[in-house]
Order: sequence, then C-alpha cells, then structure tokens
Amino acid sequence: MGEDKRSQREVVGLARDFVKFGGRRVGAAVLLMIIGGLLESVSLALLAPLFALFTDPHRDGLANRLFNLVLPPNSSMSSKLGLVLFLFVIVMIVRTLVIMVRDRTNARLQMDFGEHLQVRMMRALGAARWQDIENMKHARITQALGGSLSRVTTANTLMLQAAVQLTMLIAQWLMVLLLAPAVALIFVVIVAVGAYPLIRALKGSSALGREMSSGGLTLVHTTSQLLGGLKLSFAQNMQPAFVHEYARVARELKNRRYAYSKGQSSMRAGLTMGAAIAGALLLFVGFTVGIPIARLLASFAIFARMNSATVLLIQCSNQLANNAPAHGEIMGLLDDLKSERLNVSEGLKASLGPMKSLEFDDVSVGHAPDWRLKDVSVVLHRGETIGIAGPSGAGKTTFLDSTAGLVVPNSGTIRVNRTPLDSSVANLWRDRISYVTQECFLFNESIRRNLTWGSKETPDEILWEALAIVRMDAVIGKTGDGLDTEVSERGIRFSGGERQRIALARAILRQPQILILDEATNAIDIDTEAAIFQRLSAARPDLTIIVVAHRPSTLAVCDRIIRLEEGRLVEDLRIEAPEAVAR
Ligand SMILES: Nc1ncnc2c1ncn2[C@@H]1O[C@H](COP(=O)(O)OP(=O)(O)O)[C@@H](O)[C@H]1O
Ligand SMILES: [Mg+2]
Repeated sequence: MGEDKRSQREVVGLARDFVKFGGRRVGAAVLLMIIGGLLESVSLALLAPLFALFTDPHRDGLANRLFNLVLPPNSSMSSKLGLVLFLFVIVMIVRTLVIMVRDRTNARLQMDFGEHLQVRMMRALGAARWQDIENMKHARITQALGGSLSRVTTANTLMLQAAVQLTMLIAQWLMVLLLAPAVALIFVVIVAVGAYPLIRALKGSSALGREMSSGGLTLVHTTSQLLGGLKLSFAQNMQPAFVHEYARVARELKNRRYAYSKGQSSMRAGLTMGAAIAGALLLFVGFTVGIPIARLLASFAIFARMNSATVLLIQCSNQLANNAPAHGEIMGLLDDLKSERLNVSEGLKASLGPMKSLEFDDVSVGHAPDWRLKDVSVVLHRGETIGIAGPSGAGKTTFLDSTAGLVVPNSGTIRVNRTPLDSSVANLWRDRISYVTQECFLFNESIRRNLTWGSKETPDEILWEALAIVRMDAVIGKTGDGLDTEVSERGIRFSGGERQRIALARAILRQPQILILDEATNAIDIDTEAAIFQRLSAARPDLTIIVVAHRPSTLAVCDRIIRLEEGRLVEDLRIEAPEAVAR
C-alpha cells in the first residue's frame, strides 16, 4: 500500500519535472495527442453512415444529414458509398500524419529530457564538493548515472504512451457518447464494476514488477562482483563456486520474471473475457433500447478499439510505476550534490600568485576518537621534495587531500602564501597542482590522449620530453604506433610500473607548481624511480613535490620527511644531502 503511494508520488514528480523541462513543447505534444485521438474516433465513427447505407438507408438521422449536406437529393447508393469512403480516406490520411508528427514530437521530447537529466547530473557532480562525493557511496553514483537514468528514460516513454492511450480512450468514449449515449453510459457502468478486480490485479503485478527490476539489479551487481574476482577464482580453483553463485541469482530472477509474465497473461485473459461479456451486453442492451443498428455496430467497433487501448494503458501504467522511482533516486542524488557558490574574483587571482608556502596551522580532520588528522602544524616551502611516511591509515592520503583543498579541516587553518584556503582560493590553488592518486588511472585510449587529458593542446615534442623524464620514451618508441599506441586490452598491456610512469608523465605535462604523488611510484623499480626524480628536479628545480611512500628508496630522494601516525605529525626531518641530488 505504502509502496503504491510512493510510486504514485514518483510518477507525479517525474511528470512535473518533465513539464517543467518541456514547457510549451509538452503543451504541443498533448494537443497533438488530443487531435490524433479525435481523428482516430472520427475515422471509426464514419462506420456509422457506412453501416447505415447497407442496413437502413432512410431512417438514421445523422447519416442522412451527412448525405444531404454534400450530395444532391436522391443520390445513388454508390455515390453515398463513395462519399463515405472518400471521407474515410481523407480522415485516415490526416490522422496518420498527425500521429506521425505526434510520435516524432514525443520521441524528440523524451530524448531531449533524457539528455538534459544526464548532463544535469554530470554538471552537479562536477560542481559538488569533493567531500560530499567521497562520503557518498560510489555505487550510488554509478547506479544513478547508469541504471536509474535509463529507467527514467523508460518511465518517461511509458508516461507519454500512457497519455496517448488515455486521450485515445477519452476521445473514443466521447464519440460513442455522440453516436449512442445509452451505450456510452452502459460502458461507464461496466468500467465501474470491472474496476475493483482490475485494480487488485494491477497492484499485484506492479509489486511483482518491482521485485523483478530489483532482481535484475542484483544480477548485475553479482555479475560485476564475480567478474571482479575472476582471477582469484581461477588462481584458487574456485570457478565452480563462481558458476554456482551466478546460476542461483539467475534462477531467482527467472522465477520472478515468470511469475510476472504469468500475472500479466492472466490479467490480459481476464480483461479479454470481461470485454467479451461487456461487448455482448452492450449489443444486447443497445438493441433492446432501440439504438439504430448502424450506430450500434459502429459503437461496438469503437468499443473493441477501446479494449486494446485499455490493455496498453494498463501495461504502460504498470511498468511506469516500476520505473518511476528511478527519478526519485536521481533527484535525491542531485539534492545531495548541492553545489556551492564560488567567488573567484580577478583580485583574488592576482593576489594569490605562484606558490611560496603552504601552511598547516593546528589542522584536524574528522572527529574523536577516529581522527583522520589531529593537530597538524607544518609549513611546506616552494621547491622542497617532501616525503610523507607512516603506516596505513595514518592519515597520509587525508594530508594530501587537505593540501589540495579537497578535504576541509574540521578545525585549524590551511594557508597558501598566507591566504586561508577557503573554497574559492582552493579552486584557484588546484590549477597549480598535479595529483597522482594511489590507484593510478589511465583511459582505454591512445597514449597521446592519456597524456594530454586535462591540459592544453601540446606539441608532440613536449609529450616526448615528458615521456623521457619518466623513462617511457624508449618503451613507447618501440611499439611502432608511437603516441597513438592504445592503452587498452586491445592495445599494449603495460605493466603496473609502466602505467604509473604514464600517469606521472601526464601529471608533469600540466606544468604544476606542486606535484602530489600518493604511493604513485611504488610499482616502479628502484633505479628507474631514482632516475625519474633526478630528471624531474633537474627539469623543474622550483617544483614542490609531496610524495607518500613506504619504500626507503623513495624517501631517500626527499629533502624532508614528515612522519604521520594515527593522524598526528610525529616527525619532521630535514635531510641535508638527499640521494637523488647527491648521485
Ligand atoms: N572519507 C572518509 N571518511 C571518514 N574516514 C576516512 C575517510 N577516508 C579515510 N578515512 C579514515 O581516515 C584514516 C586515515 O586514512 P588515510 O588518510 O587514507 O590513511 P593512509 O593514506 O595513511 O593509509 C583511516 O582511519 C581511514 O579509515
Ligand atoms: Mg593512502
């Protein structure tokens, strides 16, 4: 019951959002639907004069009025037939054209709406604070951008289809009212009687439908989980367990699907049987109360048409109820990603200047007792190579994230060149930063695209220079395709260390003032790593490097080592002659 209410609310929410987006275009679409529906009924209603021609050429007032209007009195049967058929063809042509325009308008509108949602979501993601994104479950974002979005598009399509069927039904009913008011009224009674079992069946099937779509999600989830552990399965002979788990989830989903389709087919059967009884009743009662046979037959034809529109309407609303909640999921995400207004003035840009110092003044992040950083005070200077050491969970990544203004301290102040790092300053500050994360990431694209991502147009020589600094120039040169070499399963499979070196080259190409490396060189062999740092400091003596590392060999190239433990700064060591420089 609560679920149904929720579905209704979601459908209303979706409709409101859609109307707000489409504005006048939605009005035009609705108008086209109404005109299409009316023309459809008129084409069916033309059956009445047609039947009248054969059954009762003299008595039916409506048909006679039509013939007298256009044809000379006492025209032949065939000219009357010709007139009706001519009108029929004209109406059909206009109707078909209107419906074509209607369908195109609807398709365009719903695709534009889908695109609008997609871009809106990405924009919200791009404008959000990193902390909000970090605190959000990753799965939630992936689901919103993937499954939820396609479900909203589906719901939107279904909503429009339901609206089309509904306008059809109303137009058809109005036509029956015009042709044979008694039949139209009987129809209302029949609908009222049939509504109860129908609504019950609808609720049941919509609950099943919901289970089915959640089952589908579980299968996708299980599949990706299992595929993620594929290597593990093979390495430990666990493939049978893998297959077993998959088969179990798939079987469950199949059972739900079958129950749903069973429910659907019994609903259709019930509806068809009900329609047969209702149709017979209509004809019988209509005949008894003396409705002219031609009108009765035409009404009956329209009734048959209404029946199929009803089945479609029910199916659409059913699936609509299952898919509409995705809209709520997306809206919820957008709410949680409220962007903050940045105030980046020209004056601020001018005053910040190049990096001179970065100061942590009694900075704490997190809450007691699980401090991510606790009372950290330290000043970093331009040109330093600072190693950050400490066990896992010591707060090294948090320290780096605070440095980049991604994580905002709960107390204390971070200052850049003595200017507090608020969100506007942080926005400018990050233009000066290159950050290579712990899980170095590359696109499945060419080396060139991987290197130039996020920086301006760059001539090839510069790209090769960066590759030379990370000692990847020879490796890439040997591939034959050079900078066009694909970094993907189709192209070259680079080793972990090679991937890290490409990510490092990308970071260097941004021409940063501060290079932040979060265990980003740990897969590179020790000699190559030392050589890279040496080349880097030769090429960019002013560059400030902050590098998180566990290996003594990495820390050996630093001129300063900061050690963190449980969020606290426990050691700040200056080294007079670091190895990389000494070599
Ligand atoms: N987004 C987060 N929200 C809350 N706690 C976090 C978050 N990220 C990390 N932590 C916690 O903060 C502590 C420091 O984490 P982190 O800075 O990643 O450590 P390190 O990089 O040194 O391994 C850990 O106890 C970790 O569980
Ligand atoms: Mg870390």
